[in-house]
Amino acid sequence: MAYYCSFKPSLLLLLFFIATSQAKDDSITHLHFFLHENDNRPNATAITVVNSTTSDPGGFGSIGIFDDEIREGSSVDSKLIGRAQGMAPEVSLSEMAWLVLIDFVFTDGEYNGSSLMVVGRATIGRPVERSIIGGTGKFRMARGYTINKLLSSAPAGRFIAEYDAYIVH
Ligand SMILES: *[C@@H]1O[C@H](CO)[C@@H](O)[C@H](O)[C@H]1NC(C)=O
Ligand SMILES: *[C@@H]1O[C@H](CO)[C@@H](O)[C@H](O)[C@H]1NC(C)=O
Ligand SMILES: *[C@@H]1O[C@H](CO)[C@@H](O)[C@H](O)[C@H]1NC(C)=O
Repeated sequence: MAYYCSFKPSLLLLLFFIATSQAKDDSITHLHFFLHENDNRPNATAITVVNSTTSDPGGFGSIGIFDDEIREGSSVDSKLIGRAQGMAPEVSLSEMAWLVLIDFVFTDGEYNGSSLMVVGRATIGRPVERSIIGGTGKFRMARGYTINKLLSSAPAGRFIAEYDAYIVH
């Protein structure tokens, strides 16, 4: 018992040092960028590959695939910094909502060659938060979240979403 009592504080001290040294190694990176999707053929960056087999007005069961652009700004000619590649099945029987899986692959700038895997729900008409579940390159072991909202200023057939990503890696 005496051994146990004298051992406990040093164990706590050790755990404290492990916890604080891990906290110091974690850095939080904030990225701000814009996703550009073009639904206009022939240069569409998103397609529907499966249509719903139900009469559900939200299109329950449909699946979209996309290879959208990641740009620095909201303008279509702002600098291209990567691609947002993924898929979005419509998964809700009660409203229009998708389960979105996106690999953000950076091809320019500080994070060229690195990627972020983002998963989560999408709905229409309100800002969306999704989980960052991993990454590669400079984003190995990443976790965090993204917040995005659609800009209402996009031309017809185009979707432009402003993204903030908060990444611990
Ligand atoms: C599709 O892309 C090509 C190559 O960039 C371009 O020349 C053409 O004007 C585009 N078409 C439309 C309808 O945007
Ligand atoms: C899905 O439905 C639309 C509209 O009816 C049609 O244009 C498109 O070809 C269909 N796509 C597939 C993959 O069946
Ligand atoms: C990004 O990295 C690739 C592979 O290392 C390289 O070929 C390419 O030139 C880089 N792009 C830019 C814009 O630096």
